[in-house]
Amino acid sequence: MKVYRIHEKITKYRFGNPFPTDGVLVKGDPWEKEGMDYFQVEQGTEIRLTYKMDSKDMVWGLGENQRGMNKRGGIYVSYCSDDPRHTPDKKSLYGAHNFMIVDGRERFGLFIDYPGQVAFDVGFSHTDVIEIIIDGTDADIYIIDGEGLREIVRKFFHIIGEGYAPPKWAFGYQQSRWSYPDAKTIEGVAEAFIDHDIPCDAIYLDIDYMEGFKDFTVSEDRFPDFPRFVEKMREKGFRLVPIIDAGVKIEKGYGVYEEGIQGGYFCTDGEGKPFVAAVWPGKVHFPDFLNPEARRWFGLKYKGLIDWGIEGFWNDMNEPAIFYTERGLKKGIELAKQSENENLDMDSFFALKDAFIHMSNHREDYQSMYHHVDGKQVNHHEVHNLYGYYMTRAAAEGFEEIAPNKRFLLFSRASYIGMHRFGGIWTGDNHSWWEHILLNLKMMPSLNMCGFLYAGADTGGFGGDANAQLLIRWTQFSLFTPLFRNHSAIGGRRQEPFSFDQETTEMIRKAIQFRYALIPYIYSEYMKALLHRDMYMLPLAFAYEDEISRRVENQLLVGDGLMIAPIYEENALGRYVWLPEDMLLWKVDDYRERSYEIKRKGHLYLEVGLHEIPVFIRKNKMLIFGNHGRNTEVLDHRELYVVAFIEDRAQYVYYDDDGLTKDYKKEKYTEIRISIERREEDFEIKIENRENRQVKRIHFEMVDIHGNIAKKTVVLAAQ
Ligand code: GLC
Repeated sequence: MKVYRIHEKITKYRFGNPFPTDGVLVKGDPWEKEGMDYFQVEQGTEIRLTYKMDSKDMVWGLGENQRGMNKRGGIYVSYCSDDPRHTPDKKSLYGAHNFMIVDGRERFGLFIDYPGQVAFDVGFSHTDVIEIIIDGTDADIYIIDGEGLREIVRKFFHIIGEGYAPPKWAFGYQQSRWSYPDAKTIEGVAEAFIDHDIPCDAIYLDIDYMEGFKDFTVSEDRFPDFPRFVEKMREKGFRLVPIIDAGVKIEKGYGVYEEGIQGGYFCTDGEGKPFVAAVWPGKVHFPDFLNPEARRWFGLKYKGLIDWGIEGFWNDMNEPAIFYTERGLKKGIELAKQSENENLDMDSFFALKDAFIHMSNHREDYQSMYHHVDGKQVNHHEVHNLYGYYMTRAAAEGFEEIAPNKRFLLFSRASYIGMHRFGGIWTGDNHSWWEHILLNLKMMPSLNMCGFLYAGADTGGFGGDANAQLLIRWTQFSLFTPLFRNHSAIGGRRQEPFSFDQETTEMIRKAIQFRYALIPYIYSEYMKALLHRDMYMLPLAFAYEDEISRRVENQLLVGDGLMIAPIYEENALGRYVWLPEDMLLWKVDDYRERSYEIKRKGHLYLEVGLHEIPVFIRKNKMLIFGNHGRNTEVLDHRELYVVAFIEDRAQYVYYDDDGLTKDYKKEKYTEIRISIERREEDFEIKIENRENRQVKRIHFEMVDIHGNIAKKTVVLAAQ
């Protein structure tokens, strides 16, 4: 083991000769140090770390996973998995996010930079032991010390680099469905949004837009004159977001396939021939995204669609998902043939059944696939968790070459730590289950801790059938998540906001309108979090140290000023809320009608009608918002509103930028710094405007701790 000092409080322990994942950007200097802090280490054919927990220790992080925000009590296996049934017993979902914070007797962060399988047993086998098994002998392990939880996360963000900024339109509402298969259907969906006066920025193209599920093709039958169609939709105010799948169809004459073969850009099998697996189009090859040349080749393929006016993509099936390989299929068929006319006993029947049930995403297949990096052959299984990350990196690097200063919408299903620099994630194939609203809520801060700020779930649930109430409640939560997309699977009930009765449409309209009104706040908080290496959605424990706040698993902090307490139970017309301090409650129905109530520190039963969204403004904090519009482009921010809850003083920095370019990286952004101070009989407002030329007026509503309200309008100095 070699030890490196990355930073005063960050130490890297290197075992063997790890594969460079580019998860961490800082190398560090060699350091003389005996043993590893906190953990006992055992090395053999694997690396095993153990830590003895105190009875009250909590464990945060691990990104996209089941169970609570506090991960104690479960086993989690990092191995990117295409599994569409996210039941509580699942140990692996699509992402591999090996960062966690142990919080209790000691407080420290741990990042296991190992791209193969890592298992985290967090007090499952032994209630007071964390046991981590790294499935190999080469890994970098980082330990991050710090006082506060947020401080540890910030340090981690410093070494994994600045996150991805989507364009501002990607903060609008987005509508998806597997599938809107043709131009006519999409136009119909767009018209319905317009007719129902529901704001929307993007409509998705799932696999059926392609010709035979071939990446970078568009079906001419279903989309005659695609570029004109993209343009027409833009004129109506909608952007189209096509899906790109990892597998490239094997088909003579198909350009992407032919180029991939000629360039040697595909992953190979043990004999050096392109590896064959089957996904949507039947047999495919997988681009070798770990190989920089293949990555560049694939990344530049996005240009075709970009030239046709596309500005956003979602990368899918990039665990990579494998329906079957010839090996698995042959095994199954042989077993089936042997079983014909047999009297199968228990073992042989289950063996037969399993041969088909476990045919997809089989370890043996991943173990038979190879990458080629720097002249070396690397077994896929050992670097499995990098595949989706590197596919997304391929796209982002391609965009950088195609349109260097433009921001694209890009998110992926599979991911690994470090991918947040290139794109966001969605949490894959959830279900229209109430439990999945809560899972979504718990996962958001864990994803944030792993760098993934641009994240969200399929609102309304992907699989199964949503009822009106579920969609309303889920929308009322998702409106706070940066990626706000309703998506559902083929065969399931339609769940666009207008697919139910009029009252439902009305409630969802108001929730989506509220999202658009909140964009000044959401965008500002998101971008500041990126630039300051901070989180956007946090557990209460990250701001409040009391024992109750530390255990709250169903409320969240959103940005600097808000706490939310969503409803995630069917037929509930209220819920219990914990208030770690006095807060100002605004039950939002139509956001233009405002009324507030002070809620005192403590436990509270809150009634919440189906049409209501409870929003808590924290003490000495403020919420800034504007008016909604039919999409982000027409938002008019000449007038903004601030609701503040002031005990003595509050400060807020309202951030804005062009929302389209990367100029914010050159500090080309604007800020309005607002401070409010409670004076004897009055509130004093100070405003410092740094170059914002859009905002002309801010209307303030200020409530003090006793419930005194003052309203003021401040006209911003002409510049
Ligand atoms: C996968 C994706 C899902 C998509 C479907 C068809 O299941 O996770 O979002 O709709 O494939 O492309």
